[in-house]
Amino acid sequence: MTIRRARLADASAIAALIAGYSRQGLLLPRSPDQIQATIREFLVAHEGGRVVGSVALEFYGPRRNGLAEIRSLAVAEDSRSSGLGGRLLEAAVKRARRQGIARVFAVTRSAEFFERHAFVRARGGIPPEKVARDCALCPKAGGCTLQALSRNLAPAHAPQLLPVLAPARLRREPAPA
Ligand SMILES: CC(C)(COP(=O)(O)OP(=O)(O)OC[C@H]1O[C@@H](n2cnc3c(N)ncnc32)[C@H](O)[C@@H]1OP(=O)(O)O)[C@@H](O)C(=O)NCCC(=O)NCCS
Repeated sequence: MTIRRARLADASAIAALIAGYSRQGLLLPRSPDQIQATIREFLVAHEGGRVVGSVALEFYGPRRNGLAEIRSLAVAEDSRSSGLGGRLLEAAVKRARRQGIARVFAVTRSAEFFERHAFVRARGGIPPEKVARDCALCPKAGGCTLQALSRNLAPAHAPQLLPVLAPARLRREPAPA
């Protein structure tokens, strides 16, 4: 089983995977056309010539220190509970971190799953950026029962080594005359 970037040819399989769960009210439906148009956001899990999982990372604003949403996280029924959902989620988080994203969030009915992966319930609810982009047009917005969770990401290059090194260097320098 491999996790890789999605290709245009994967769009129908991703749409079919998502459709099964959107009928259960667990995921928003995404048409093959919508998926093709945003294919660069998707990662897929691939096994035996078949797409068995998907996840998308949707960016908000500038990448550096920006915000990104985990979307369309789905694992085929017969591949569930073997760690694949967690691996897809962590792969998307890794991708976000590499892009300099400071915080990822998810709006979901599967809050406990995300909590197992260091997400915490967002105190302010659904981020305003998401509300403006998607919720404003949603007919269910008034009675939304989805939960927003987020995870802060440490910067890829932690700068904390500098203050440790600086005093040592200073000590070796001769005192000013
Ligand atoms: C959520 C989902 C991606 C998890 O995939 P997975 O491959 O089964 O996940 P993992 O194997 O990494 O982890 C499994 C554990 O996560 C927990 N878990 C799985 N789905 C969960 C859910 N919907 N809610 C809460 N916890 C869940 C369970 O404790 C499970 O452990 P168990 O198998 O011992 O019961 C998968 O269940 C799925 O596709 N669900 C439908 C779509 C969905 O709800 N997506 C998330 C919203 S973006």
